[in-house]
Amino acid sequence: MHQNEGPSTRSVHLSRRIDPSTHAIVPPICANTAFAYEDIETWRAVALNQAPGDIYSRNSNPTTTAFEEKVAALERAESATSFATGMAAISTTLFALLSPSQHAVSVRDAYGATYLHFTQILPRFGVICDVCETEDHEAIEAAIEQGCDVLYLESPTNPTLKVLDLARLSAAAKKVGAIAIVDNTFATPINQTPIALGADLVIHSATKFLCGHGDVLGGVVCGRKDLVEKVYRYRELTGPSMDAHVAFLMLRSLKTLGLRVQRHNENALALARFLEKQLKVERVYYPGLESHPGHEIAKRQMSGFGGVLSFELKGGFEAVTRFLPRLRYAYMAANLGQVETIVGPPATTSHVELSDEERAEAGVPEGLIRYAVGIEDLDDLKADLTQALASL
Ligand SMILES: Cc1ncc(COP(=O)(O)O)c(C=O)c1O
Repeated sequence: MHQNEGPSTRSVHLSRRIDPSTHAIVPPICANTAFAYEDIETWRAVALNQAPGDIYSRNSNPTTTAFEEKVAALERAESATSFATGMAAISTTLFALLSPSQHAVSVRDAYGATYLHFTQILPRFGVICDVCETEDHEAIEAAIEQGCDVLYLESPTNPTLKVLDLARLSAAAKKVGAIAIVDNTFATPINQTPIALGADLVIHSATKFLCGHGDVLGGVVCGRKDLVEKVYRYRELTGPSMDAHVAFLMLRSLKTLGLRVQRHNENALALARFLEKQLKVERVYYPGLESHPGHEIAKRQMSGFGGVLSFELKGGFEAVTRFLPRLRYAYMAANLGQVETIVGPPATTSHVELSDEERAEAGVPEGLIRYAVGIEDLDDLKADLTQALASL
């Protein structure tokens, strides 16, 4: 494959291979716990990584390997390793790469459970964590200069869609020898490839856009081979591996990633512009809008602005509780990146793990709605929002 094929060609064809035993185009589900060998020498060679093959599916499995290869290719990464969930990928990566008295720098608007790793979990193990104001690039750079082993970023963030300059902050991390990690869940590799911007590792909650159909959970870490190897070794010991059946469904979904994300992008941008004009809407958060403070950075580092937007209704949480149940083409649920539109307030979605005080401290407005746009027809979504707004 060349570097410059379009997103759908890449989604369909990257890392393709014909199954050698069956000539199948679709990688078969390799539903096996363990793999058997005819002699001890071969078994030992595979176990010691001196010959290709699999031993036990907690460690590796041909179907999950096919998924890892596909994501690595999409993210322009050297290597990838997969997980049972996005949080397993995030937690395992942080524990694999950080030790007591080392420093981690992150931002306040990271996904709720990730934020709690930096504020509660890692400090218990002696990791010194600095959680910076999300859009304050100078403050993040200052924290990195003061001492940093791991820089952990998300862009755009969940749920207020803040944008970080990934090239600038990855360069700052590189200067002090820190590992730069980016959660690319919201952007997807169709819209943004952080490795090309200087990041060392990219993480996904594959549960979201990579899966796209809301039927399985998963996570993946990709990037520099030596770092992925470290994360893989830790996963091998702690065990949150992806199952082969899940990998099969993920591979099936990835073929339409380009197509789906293009539609998510178009719907989200059009609806963000539409919502911005509505009198009952206080504020719209979407990096594709010229009014968004991170729009210029987003334009530089993203080829599309993603399928998630959020907006604040006038009337706060009370208006939210009246508005959301009136939407006909949206599910009230705690997911995003599905073909169906999914909506919810941060209190029951991205920041459900946080108390009211922690949410306020994290700067999440109570009247916010996260609107994860699906692939429905734009006119239907517009009409739906219009009728629900009219009811307020
Ligand atoms: C940006 C981001 N990262 C990580 C996660 C965690 O992923 P999972 O639910 O697959 O564990 C989520 C979940 O919503 C997310 O939105």
